[in-house]
Amino acid sequence: MQPFYRWRFILFSLAICSVTWVGPVGRGLAATLQCENLRCEYLKDPLGIDETKPRLSWIVTTSDRDQMQTAYQILVATTEANLRAGVGDLWDTGKLASDETTQIVYGGQALASRESCFWKVRSWDRDGKEGKWSAPARWQMGLLDPGEWTARWISATNSASPPSTAGAPYLRKSFTLTAPVQRAVLYASALGLYEVHLNGHRVGDHILAPDWTDYRKRVRYQAYEVTDLLKRGDNAIGALLGNGWYSGHIGNGGYQFFGKAPAFLAQLEVTYKDGRTERIGTDASWKFQASPVVSSDFMAGEDYDARLEIKHWDEVGLFDSGWSPVATREEVVPLEAQVMEPVREIVELAPKAITELTPGNWVYDLGQNMVGVVRLKVAAPAGTKVTLRYAEMLNPDGTLYTTNLRKALSVDHYVTRGGGVEIWQPRFTFHGFRYVEISGLPKPPGTDAVTGVVISTDTTRTGEFTCSDPRINQLQSNIQWGQRGNYISVPTDCPQRDERLGWMGDAQVFIRTATYNADVAAFFTKWLVDVDDGQSAEGSFSDVNPNTMGRNGVPAWGDAGVICPWSIYQAYGDKRILEKHLPAMIKWVEYLRQHSDGLIRDRDRGNDYGDWLAIGSITSKELIGTAYFAYSTHLVALACQVLDRTAEAAKYYQLFQDIRTAFVKKYVTSDGRIEGNTQCDYAMALKFELLPDELKPKAAQFLEDDIVAKGGHLSTGFVGVSYLLPVLTQNGKADTAYRLLLQDTFPSWLFSVKQGATTIWERWDGWTPDKGFQSPSMNSFNHYSLGSCGEYLFSGVAGIRAASPGFKEIMIDPVIRDGLTWANARFDSIHGEIATSWKRDGRNLTLKVVVPPNTTASVTIPAGSPAAITESGKPMDRARGVLFLRQDPDGCVFRVGSGTYSFACSMN
Ligand code: BGC
Repeated sequence: MQPFYRWRFILFSLAICSVTWVGPVGRGLAATLQCENLRCEYLKDPLGIDETKPRLSWIVTTSDRDQMQTAYQILVATTEANLRAGVGDLWDTGKLASDETTQIVYGGQALASRESCFWKVRSWDRDGKEGKWSAPARWQMGLLDPGEWTARWISATNSASPPSTAGAPYLRKSFTLTAPVQRAVLYASALGLYEVHLNGHRVGDHILAPDWTDYRKRVRYQAYEVTDLLKRGDNAIGALLGNGWYSGHIGNGGYQFFGKAPAFLAQLEVTYKDGRTERIGTDASWKFQASPVVSSDFMAGEDYDARLEIKHWDEVGLFDSGWSPVATREEVVPLEAQVMEPVREIVELAPKAITELTPGNWVYDLGQNMVGVVRLKVAAPAGTKVTLRYAEMLNPDGTLYTTNLRKALSVDHYVTRGGGVEIWQPRFTFHGFRYVEISGLPKPPGTDAVTGVVISTDTTRTGEFTCSDPRINQLQSNIQWGQRGNYISVPTDCPQRDERLGWMGDAQVFIRTATYNADVAAFFTKWLVDVDDGQSAEGSFSDVNPNTMGRNGVPAWGDAGVICPWSIYQAYGDKRILEKHLPAMIKWVEYLRQHSDGLIRDRDRGNDYGDWLAIGSITSKELIGTAYFAYSTHLVALACQVLDRTAEAAKYYQLFQDIRTAFVKKYVTSDGRIEGNTQCDYAMALKFELLPDELKPKAAQFLEDDIVAKGGHLSTGFVGVSYLLPVLTQNGKADTAYRLLLQDTFPSWLFSVKQGATTIWERWDGWTPDKGFQSPSMNSFNHYSLGSCGEYLFSGVAGIRAASPGFKEIMIDPVIRDGLTWANARFDSIHGEIATSWKRDGRNLTLKVVVPPNTTASVTIPAGSPAAITESGKPMDRARGVLFLRQDPDGCVFRVGSGTYSFACSMN
């Protein structure tokens, strides 16, 4: 194994040992470390964990500079009282010398199904001072043994016959609890979508539960704390059951792909105060009835007839003798716990403008291309049928542009019950839209008739970026809206047309951007299981996952099965994700090897999308295939090394070298020119380390020359675009990177911003002033892939990069060039908040930096010598917690410990 790989992540640590401090290390009056943000398997107080050795994490906070954790103690207890009393009857680590705060694998007593685990942690700082205990946190184990599911799958029909209704049936059951309730947990799932109610109250706040999986392989169940919703005596449980991904329309023509009709499963587990337990599960005693949700489908929309509402359908006392008995269904699909944040309602948008297009036909502009549903508020006579249509854009005449929805009808209907104000929103569909057209009302609807309800997988937002150019701020907003709208249960390509699939290529080009914008660790933990589920026996990953297309993975699409686990490891230091997926990653590389000649990917490249939606350049598909073969192989070698599988690491590193050799021999001339001479060529070759050192500057020059020849414009599609700006910057062409980033003429990132875009467009030329809308069959206005430049805003412009996996060691090196006068960024890493804020006035620069406790950072300041720099107004030799490392061509490099620093200098 090349020593380079062994050492690349720790070079920085070595560097700090070989230099001397220029300033005193004093830390003033030490405040102790406080442990916060306790999480289990990335989630806050999760209920229903199937992982028998879950991982714990926290962050440490302090007002003190240059602080480290030197030891921690974790207590895990079976009861809150034990935890309070300091009794870790499940696990007591004692004082353990360690600076780790993330990915701590539970090592206590074996955990049983339903086990409640209460935990807390405290840390010792670098002076050995003991911090206070954290606030208590908890997790609860799920149902670990399939035999513990005594409930049966139920359905309003039998899966062998056609669905009795395309709508969402009501299901219900009354039951009696014979004593006061101590605690109750409801476990529920569906082949389809469900909304569950207890005694007239909706349980939980999940939307579109359960998340999409390949239902032939697994289905996720959710657990809810429902103690407060139950009472001694008579109770009622009810559910609405939708088609969703299981039996409705899914992307690219799939209908009833997984099954004909949805099914529901619920198990309510009650512990009485007297210690007895009771279990109420779905079974043949449940009844069903048609509900007002007359039809429901992701692509078609939802129809609701409020006249069909059944009052108290989910309450005790309903006279349900007219309801039909449900059918029970034998399903063998394994049930696995929810492992990520669910889809939830995230935010609401009020309309910005309303236009009466033709009499009785009103168009509401929400001002933002969004994903979700509309909450409708109307008053009309009973039986009035209100029609809602959706679009991302308007035609020149102001009508809705819906051609790009292809076969997704995207129409909702609401039939009023009459008698006053009525409020409704669809439950089991969603749309991608900015404009909503309402028709069918006898009177003009008010401004409050429409509210946009935005839904998304509820990942915690971790990144904020702003700078002196409002166009770039809009670009960042568009990127974040794209992520929000397309991270719906799985990472999708688009939310509006008849597609909405887990396209692998899109996911892998965007993942690095995604990890800055939000905590997507749990989201990818779940989806990468779907990716492995979709792998063929021969080792090919699929183009989409959950795998509904059955296609062999295309270069750059299939490779997501390797790139995504690696990216999650990089962002969160998550070795387990590598462990779990390494076998599938290796199988993919072996598949690629089998389907190559002389290590050139000259055949069997599936649907072969090439540098998809490139503009004005064509990159050889064979070359892309070979480059990605090399890259995936290299990442497999690195993953093996991280996991101490040295022999395999050496084997795949050698294979990577051999592919590189074949690549250079076939496609690269001795002066560094690559076949085709496209921007995508050079971006890949430089990013994937395919070129010998001496050819790198030459290749970078060809790349820059092409951009200049195109008048400062890019020409890459999905495949090359995410690498372009980082590669230019890392190869001494940061001015050109800035030129591309700030370009606003066609084609460029800011071109769509200039046209008023509020999300990232699928195509560079989705709409142009000369030609109007392009290629309606492939013209989404909410596709995140081309927004993969978002990574560069954080890692380049703001200069926040991981120097070791999980940002335990940080590199701060903002790229400051003409065109921007300031930039501010905040990123909540798994180790805590990292922030930079720079401002220049001519040559004068100020740079503020926040480094979280228990991490270190190297900070590059673009000055000619340390003497030209101050920190908090003091010369650097008097700055606390700052160590001069070296002088680089780009500036002075310092090592800083945690804290807030304010540097000032005259720039080089
Ligand atoms: C999707 C893309 C996807 C592609 C494959 C499209 O229909 O919307 O984003 O990656 O197919 O070329």
